[in-house]
Amino acid sequence: MPSYLHSHHLSTRFQALDQFLIEHQQLWKPRPFTTLRLDWETTHPELATHLRQCSLADAETDSAADALPAPFPQLAQQAQQLTALGSLPQTDLPPAAHRLDVAVPGRKWQQIEAFASHLAFHHQPRHWLDWCSGKGHLGRRLLQPGQQLTCLEYDAELVAAGQALSAHHHLPAQHVHQDVMASDSACHLAGEKSVVALHACGDLHVRLMQLASQQGCRQLAIAPCCYNRIAVQHYQPLSTAAQASGLQLSLDDLGLPLSETVTAGARVRRQRDTSMARRLGFDLLQRQQRQRDEYLPTPSLPVAWLEKPFEQYCRDLAELKQLPLNGNPDWAALEAAGWQRLAEVRNLERVRNLFRRPLEVWLVLDRALFLEEQGFEVRLGLFCDYPLTPRNLLILAERDR
Ligand SMILES: C[S@@+](CC[C@H](N)C(=O)[O-])C[C@H]1O[C@@H](n2cnc3c(N)ncnc32)[C@H](O)[C@@H]1O
Repeated sequence: MPSYLHSHHLSTRFQALDQFLIEHQQLWKPRPFTTLRLDWETTHPELATHLRQCSLADAETDSAADALPAPFPQLAQQAQQLTALGSLPQTDLPPAAHRLDVAVPGRKWQQIEAFASHLAFHHQPRHWLDWCSGKGHLGRRLLQPGQQLTCLEYDAELVAAGQALSAHHHLPAQHVHQDVMASDSACHLAGEKSVVALHACGDLHVRLMQLASQQGCRQLAIAPCCYNRIAVQHYQPLSTAAQASGLQLSLDDLGLPLSETVTAGARVRRQRDTSMARRLGFDLLQRQQRQRDEYLPTPSLPVAWLEKPFEQYCRDLAELKQLPLNGNPDWAALEAAGWQRLAEVRNLERVRNLFRRPLEVWLVLDRALFLEEQGFEVRLGLFCDYPLTPRNLLILAERDR
């Protein structure tokens, strides 16, 4: 069983991941969806040929890594070793008060329970601060007799709903209508708060870490998500180690850890496949028409567009992109080629996908190392199993003041 990471293990693991990601950049940075031929196909022809012959169903099951040509099995094994992480220690969190989970979707409640039962701080928190709290379900779940709770949220309806729920349960909670990106958000972090942030997106949790370091904040528990929701075009490393790294990350790269589709049902999957096959078919058409071997970004389209015959779909999309269509395109052939490309893209993406978790752990370690530089004692581990939420990494940071 792997264990969670702390102290010098954080930087050792970061350096190993950094090296792995840099060494194999050409395997995970280019996207098969937008590039007809990937550079690495020349370096690994056997693997490329094999993957291009696999079916859509093969990509879907994504099994038998061992049976694929080199270097796939070796990379899969390395990625697994480099991302091995154990659970953080569990606490004996008292059971939730009666009916506290009413109106919380089942899955969300399970995530909250898991998060709340892994906050093994050395000192007993006195005042919880729920950062980007939504209705504040997590904060309420944590609140014990003698403690206080402040919830920060910028959606006024969620603030009101949260306040009503806390009042209903007679809890000493204050729900504050606050944009955490605004300059006045720092004041909420003063006074030895224990801050929790469950799935606060990109900039929102980064802002928390920066402010918390400057303020007197004692304890932090952060489960990051949406690494690509940032205001700038390129990733800004936080720790000295990541600042020294040669790895440059674009918004596209930052989306890689979030690209898995865990829970879609059959109908949604079919819709997604059709939409992508059509886009890929249109992509072939636009390359012919523009006589440029270059991807043309297209906007997301209403699902109803999938009901249109393929020719109409392409004509409407071409009009939207102000692309004049000449000659007599072979619509049936293009549509079939789109499906064929979908199978190839999905299978080639299996290589890229090997780097999803390594990149995510690299990003989270950057956060962990930053907090350590700021004087926190940091632990990084899991708070729940992957199927409950793929964003299952938790940073616990604590310092004495
Ligand atoms: C993914 S949700 C997580 C909510 C809650 N922590 C949970 O786990 O259920 C992110 C929350 O952040 C809020 N939010 C987004 N931007 C914000 C900002 N600038 N200031 C405060 N809250 C924000 C959203 O309204 C939303 O409720």
